[in-house]
Amino acid sequence: KTKHKLQHMLTLEELTAESLTELLELAKAVKQSPSDYQTALAGKKVALLFEKASTRTRISFEVGVVELGGYPVVLSGADMQIGRGEPLSDTIKVMSRYVDALMIRTFAHETVETLATHGTIPIINGLTDLHHPCQVLADLLTIEEHFGSRQGKILTYIGDGNNMAHSLLLGGALSGMEVRICSPDAYAPNEKIVAQAIEIAKATGGTIELFTDPVAAVKGAEVIYSDVFASMGQESESIERLNAFAGYQVNLSLLREAADEVIFLHCLPAHRGEEVTADVIDGTHSVVFDQAENRLHAQKALMIELLGK
Ligand code: CP
Ligand code: NVA
Repeated sequence: KTKHKLQHMLTLEELTAESLTELLELAKAVKQSPSDYQTALAGKKVALLFEKASTRTRISFEVGVVELGGYPVVLSGADMQIGRGEPLSDTIKVMSRYVDALMIRTFAHETVETLATHGTIPIINGLTDLHHPCQVLADLLTIEEHFGSRQGKILTYIGDGNNMAHSLLLGGALSGMEVRICSPDAYAPNEKIVAQAIEIAKATGGTIELFTDPVAAVKGAEVIYSDVFASMGQESESIERLNAFAGYQVNLSLLREAADEVIFLHCLPAHRGEEVTADVIDGTHSVVFDQAENRLHAQKALMIELLGK
């Protein structure tokens, strides 16, 4: 079987269970010994384009490119001609002549698909409304570091069936994990992505379950994951969502229903007192800052895989 070269990272569906494991092994090696990889992207220019706010993705990608010996070109959508209506297809054809890869954070998931179709360079999804694959690479690395394995681990995500839920479904399924997504009925994850995750899980020994009751969903959980109730672009729904998600807060009494050794993950930024209480996110079960650090290592591995020699 010839090894399939990874071309883009639009969703975690680009990976197989094996290629995900290889990527995480590379991430561990990069984390262990960064100096071994300081010329891995020598001469490569990587554009980093943001149409939404970012702290972690923005900084970890720029630092990651530099640490691999490449050159980051950081761009804001508002300052580019796409902000004035230049077609995405023209934009990416032009960018393909200048840079070796594009990481983009944007709204509609179709945007990254259009870029991949019309460009000739790898496209990395730095978050769309539907997926956040780079975050979940870091999350899986964190889980593996903490427990020594991913297979069979029980992960409960509580909150909106959004980009985080979708990427956790796919990444957890590829890892052979027991993935539980718990959200109010009106905020359940995308059915097509749930079906894709179920399909993947059949081959890996993983399971996918949807819940509406947080207490039932965290029974025995080894990982509890939460995210904001109103994502970027949904600011106008903040109040309505705060009401809809009352009861979906991760607090100490919910944590007590999980496994004793449970870890708490959150992609950040977090709203203490909304989706999670301060005593959980700042408490002994929380590994959110190890998780944030792992963005850097996981994305360096991803860029080596996509662009390295
Ligand atoms: N978790 C995450 O993607 O953070 P930023 O929005 O700060 O990039
Ligand atoms: N669901 C959040 C994730 C932020 C990293 C959002 O899309 O805003």
